[in-house]
Amino acid sequence: MQAIVAVSNNWGIGKDNELLFHIRADLQRFKELTTGHTVVMGRKTLQSLPGQKGLPGRRNIVLTHNPDFTAPDVETVCNPLQAVFACGLEDFCIGGESVYRALLPACDRVYVTKVLADAEADAFFPDLDDDPRWQVEHCSEVMEENGTRFQFVEYVACEEDNSILPDSSEVSTGPTPFVPPADFTSYHGF
Ligand SMILES: NC(=O)c1ccc[n+]([C@@H]2O[C@H](COP(=O)([O-])OP(=O)(O)OC[C@H]3O[C@@H](n4cnc5c(N)ncnc54)[C@H](OP(=O)(O)O)[C@@H]3O)[C@@H](O)[C@H]2O)c1
Repeated sequence: MQAIVAVSNNWGIGKDNELLFHIRADLQRFKELTTGHTVVMGRKTLQSLPGQKGLPGRRNIVLTHNPDFTAPDVETVCNPLQAVFACGLEDFCIGGESVYRALLPACDRVYVTKVLADAEADAFFPDLDDDPRWQVEHCSEVMEENGTRFQFVEYVACEEDNSILPDSSEVSTGPTPFVPPADFTSYHGF
């Protein structure tokens, strides 16, 4: 699984359930990369989208604790592992903060649009520059749109993070044991 996000200088991603920036080239890149794939998002991010419905041309999975939640053009799941099992290597986590934090351990690549600007935010992405698990694989030149400077940076995970998986005691003693699919080796195999 992969993640895609646009961040400010201090890794801010949103305020009042809205995006901080609207950069045409960034939205175009988001569309190009995610179209044809499954995208996983939180219920709040879904409700920030136009029409509060799934994105066209993509399979939309929404994470919510509410099993009765419905919205047009989406499937719902109630825990992050269900989302991981529904996704392949080329599919995307698209936010917001809580869903990025829940699914980042299952991601091995993150497409970051770094907007070289400060912006007041109440939602943040983890600082990948401060996390030894992540390395920059590719960094574009700095571009500019309507006075806003930004660059596309691709991070890759240099080690696995199994923290999303239930620990063995939960698996062996829980009332509803975790049963991995027959071809399960690690989520990196999905
Ligand atoms: N810059 C970017 O690239 C980008 C991308 C996407 C979003 N954003 C921004 O991010 C902000 C929203 O982030 P957010 O963290 O407030 O909301 P969010 O992650 O979009 O959605 C949060 C909701 O997801 C569900 N959820 C989260 N973790 C769950 C879990 N472990 N199990 C079951 N359900 C779970 C819950 O829904 P229920 O309450 O229904 O249970 C929770 O309230 C907005 O400002 C948005 O604009 C920015």
